[in-house]
Amino acid sequence: MTTQNLPGQPHLAYRGNELFTENICLSELAKEHGTPLFVYSKGAMLAALAAYQRGFAGRNVQICYAMKANPALGVIQVFAEAGCGFDIVSGGDMDRVLAAGGRAENIIFSGVGKTRAEMRRALQAGIGCFNVESEAELEVLSDVALSMDLRAPVSIRVNPNVDPKTHPYISTGLKGSKFGVAHERVLQTYQRAATLAGIRVVGIDCHIGSQITQEAPYLDAVDRMLDLVEAIEAAGIPVDHIDFGGGLGINYNGDTPPSADRLWENMLAKLDARGFGQRQLMIEPGRSLVGNAGVCLTEVLYLKPGEQKNFCIIDAAMNDLPRPAMYQAFHQIVPLNPRPEAPDTYDVVGPICESGDWIGHDRTLTVQQGDLLAVLSAGAYCMSMASNYNSRGRAPEILVDGEQAHVIRQRETMADQMRQERLVGATPTT
Ligand code: LLP
Repeated sequence: MTTQNLPGQPHLAYRGNELFTENICLSELAKEHGTPLFVYSKGAMLAALAAYQRGFAGRNVQICYAMKANPALGVIQVFAEAGCGFDIVSGGDMDRVLAAGGRAENIIFSGVGKTRAEMRRALQAGIGCFNVESEAELEVLSDVALSMDLRAPVSIRVNPNVDPKTHPYISTGLKGSKFGVAHERVLQTYQRAATLAGIRVVGIDCHIGSQITQEAPYLDAVDRMLDLVEAIEAAGIPVDHIDFGGGLGINYNGDTPPSADRLWENMLAKLDARGFGQRQLMIEPGRSLVGNAGVCLTEVLYLKPGEQKNFCIIDAAMNDLPRPAMYQAFHQIVPLNPRPEAPDTYDVVGPICESGDWIGHDRTLTVQQGDLLAVLSAGAYCMSMASNYNSRGRAPEILVDGEQAHVIRQRETMADQMRQERLVGATPTT
């Protein structure tokens, strides 16, 4: 039997006429569990993590998985067991990390709108660091910590005003962005932090955007961050750790981001040159750890030839795979069982009642009704942004580990969807 790897997708290969993830045949999984179905490769996640670990070999680094990319308990468990920390953005994220076996002291808490209740719970749990995004937040956090007789460990998120050259919705380090403290106000903010009794300064951080495919914006951010660290320390405030955020892109459509190990070799050379190579470093990668570890399996419901377009209507939709509708994102779509006949061109669309419900435009496919397809690069920001739009239950998730396929989330039922709802006048049952 011939084996044919998919370019840029090391965990996916055709064996004969069947697509496999690790040693699991995807069409068999689809038949057993139904579609749409998310399938993740543990091996691919650990390989992605290993690239970062190689790049940081011999350094003092804490890799915090940005779990917003994929917050499934079974995925968090993989990274917790591999020794990662976690970048969270809500109290709910924290609960997930703790439920999956992650340690509170390895959690960093990002986000522009942390509530007092979330701060209190995170302080109680003993998280490692709050990445504070504004002066107002700093004051509130100090208050909350003091009311608990604690000092909150804090890093100020800097907005370094660097253009990451990515989609505007996922650029976060530019001047007009809601994120972080403006470069010019950072020193002042640290000086204020140093006077607040409920605050203990432990670090500095930045995050310039997501799906970044060039090295230059990262290298620019290093310089700007190190300039600030020098200024803050010259003002007598020690900065123990430097956190460079996440953002490294993946290959969706022939994209060629630097590999994590190469990027970090170059970043570390810059840090070394400025005497910061032995600092405690942190990073917050999300997409680059899980994006290409996942696929979404889907069935072709109908083919609908048209005068201007042919439509291939599948059973996955924008509620399962929101990235095309939200960012005009491209995900490759491949058959689980390729056919030899000549292809046609299709718009691949879901069943939702919106023209925005498309998964791929103008795709060349040889398909028939009932065929199974895989939407690639679906490990990041797909299930984490999935919704119940059109009363569609969220898809199940399977974690593949070699020969084993573990169900890490069951398909959401209508009872699950309606559990919190009540008809007016109905007697409460709980
Ligand atoms: N740290 C912070 C503070 C972040 O805001 C993010 C992502 C990350 C780390 C992780 O970034 P990554 O390594 O995954 O690029 N839904 C969008 C992406 C939104 C990213 C939000 N922040 C998408 O589907 O492309």
